[in-house]
Amino acid sequence: EDYQLNGFPDFMRKEIHDQTRAGHRALRGRLDERFATARLDGLGLDARELRAVRRVKFLGCGSAYYAGQLGANLVEELARLPADAEPASEFRYRNPVIEEGTLYVAVSQSGETLDTLAAVQELKRKGGQVVGLVNAVGSAIARECGSGVFLHAGPEVSVASTKAVTNMSLSFALLALLLGRVRDLSMAHGRRLVAALAAIPDRITDVLAAEEQAIAAAERYAGTEHMFFVGRVRGWPVAREGAQKLKEISYVHAEAYEAAELKHGPLALIDHTMPSVVIVPDDELLAKNIGTIEQIRARNGPVIAITNADLPEGLAETVIRLPRGEPELDPILFTVPLQLFAYHLATALGRNVDKPRNLAKSVTVE
Ligand code: AGP
Repeated sequence: EDYQLNGFPDFMRKEIHDQTRAGHRALRGRLDERFATARLDGLGLDARELRAVRRVKFLGCGSAYYAGQLGANLVEELARLPADAEPASEFRYRNPVIEEGTLYVAVSQSGETLDTLAAVQELKRKGGQVVGLVNAVGSAIARECGSGVFLHAGPEVSVASTKAVTNMSLSFALLALLLGRVRDLSMAHGRRLVAALAAIPDRITDVLAAEEQAIAAAERYAGTEHMFFVGRVRGWPVAREGAQKLKEISYVHAEAYEAAELKHGPLALIDHTMPSVVIVPDDELLAKNIGTIEQIRARNGPVIAITNADLPEGLAETVIRLPRGEPELDPILFTVPLQLFAYHLATALGRNVDKPRNLAKSVTVE
């Protein structure tokens, strides 16, 4: 069934719409309501070993790297541990310092990406502690890591990763919750997060039900040649993934910027021909993001706001609305309308979304 279209026009659309089911699978048996934590037995780490972790580093390529940035944000926010993400493709070439107490997480849908596999091998050679966060069971990276978390997204056929990326984010949230609860994340906060995480797969259904918003936006901007994707802090990895999705399947030039970086250069490119997709979560940075939109509009730049906040009337030309949840976890949901936007823009241009030119589903070469 995973390899049949079942009435969908292509696999990308099918896989976008499979995200509720896939999300439920990622969470099944892994949320512990009683102790307000997560259970990730595949990591093979007990509470003492989890407490010994001093830093978390995510390694992946392309969308798996951007997802890793979202994971790093979650770990930092929920577990108060230093965390970051690095492209696995760079890792082995820069003679990295392998610190004791750092938990490395190799992130991959296929489990066969050569650059990620090589990073894991280099890490192991140098005595680093590495676990896998992989979709394909029995794959090279899963075997090389030996322990970790399977994504349970099911087979992903379309070159553009969608449901695997969402399941990566859900799994990072589980990891962050687990690391947080053996430190100073309270039971009450943990309970709130467990409930919010459990609700995400069904909230994805709500986002998909409002697909017309993304279709209308995609049709409106289908003639554009360049686009910015802008986000700050929680919205930054979301913006990067949004730009990635658009460029790989539509061939429209898309670049992501941290919102406050615009004024340090890219703002010079803003005019009526340069639309910006701005990620606007309803969190403590809302006023800052509204300010960013005003800066863009003041230079005649069209703005597509992706938001779960109530924005002032007329602030953005186009608004794609999302339901509101827990601010720490909302970035997981924000990726979905960006997948839809990229998909509909690419199909409006007549692109083959499942097999974009020059790309392979699994990159097993240097
Ligand atoms: C995602 O849409 C891309 N096709 C690509 O960036 C992909 O995420 C990357 O090649 C990593 O693949 P992996 O997750 O199978 O390791």
